[in-house]
Amino acid sequence: MDVMGRIERALTSNLKRGSGTACPPKLVAAVNHAVFPRGARIRPRLCLAVAAACGEDAPKLTEAAAVAIEFLHCASLVHDDLPCFDNADMRRGKPSVHRAFGEPLAVLAGDALIVTAFETVALAGAPWPQRLAPLTLIIARSVGMPFGIAAGQAWECEPKIDLSAYQRSKTGALFAAATMAGAASAGQAPEPWRNLGDRLGEAFQVADDILDVAAKAEDLGKPTGQDAALDRPNAVNQLGLDGALARLRLLAKQAVDAVPDCRGAVELRAHILSETQRLVPKQLAQSAA
Ligand code: IPE
Ligand code: IPE
Ligand code: MG
Ligand code: MG
Repeated sequence: MDVMGRIERALTSNLKRGSGTACPPKLVAAVNHAVFPRGARIRPRLCLAVAAACGEDAPKLTEAAAVAIEFLHCASLVHDDLPCFDNADMRRGKPSVHRAFGEPLAVLAGDALIVTAFETVALAGAPWPQRLAPLTLIIARSVGMPFGIAAGQAWECEPKIDLSAYQRSKTGALFAAATMAGAASAGQAPEPWRNLGDRLGEAFQVADDILDVAAKAEDLGKPTGQDAALDRPNAVNQLGLDGALARLRLLAKQAVDAVPDCRGAVELRAHILSETQRLVPKQLAQSAA
């Protein structure tokens, strides 16, 4: 099965577990609205690609790690769009969860997805007791505090924000979890894989900042101009468009160079290169080159 099919199937089967008739139907609908139809699925694809490069030997565990990370990502988007954060009406080209289902169900859908993520890993990890605790820790730290998504989003409530610390926690941490969990699920040491995730995550957030300033909402499927409207730190604000594009090119190169030696290093470097080339449209990337 192709990678995307593998991810969609695993997401579906892990959501199904909690979606029986015993569950309030609107919660089931809100959770499904948050996960399907898909976005880019960049994080689970990265996790699977790293595991393959490491010589994947526990496919169910790797899959569980990959989809847990995507559940956490989807939860973070649902919460991020809420009126108390970015107050965004659109996500992935359709109404955000709180616009479609109301705020209480959006809060609960995000919460349920976070819990489903850890349930998914716990179930798949039973045959791999040595791998389960390290994997759980990697994933938990990427969404908690002091360096995970919760901390990253909380910087927005502080009077002064360091752009790099903010972006590393808000976005980079989950990318680092994807690379490290890919390795850990395949029985390899996770630490050498942190830098790749960090570099990629920062590149990704710089690209998101560039798109927030330079792309059209209908092309992105979500509102643009949000960072300026909400007075959020943004790489274009701080570095200018040319500076942000230069930073993106540097981070992309650093990401490719950060792939550790492993069985599938050549294929993985090619995968990372093609991911980084797709972060902003070619025309825009070349405009300042
Ligand atoms: C958007 O992430 C949120 C950020 C961390 C900047 P993605 O661009 O990966 O969102 P989807 O999953 O493809 O919709
Ligand atoms: C969202 O960040 C990233 C999260 C960790 C939730 P942004 O607010 O910058 O991303 P978009 O533009 O809404 O996707
Ligand atoms: Mg936000
Ligand atoms: Mg937002």
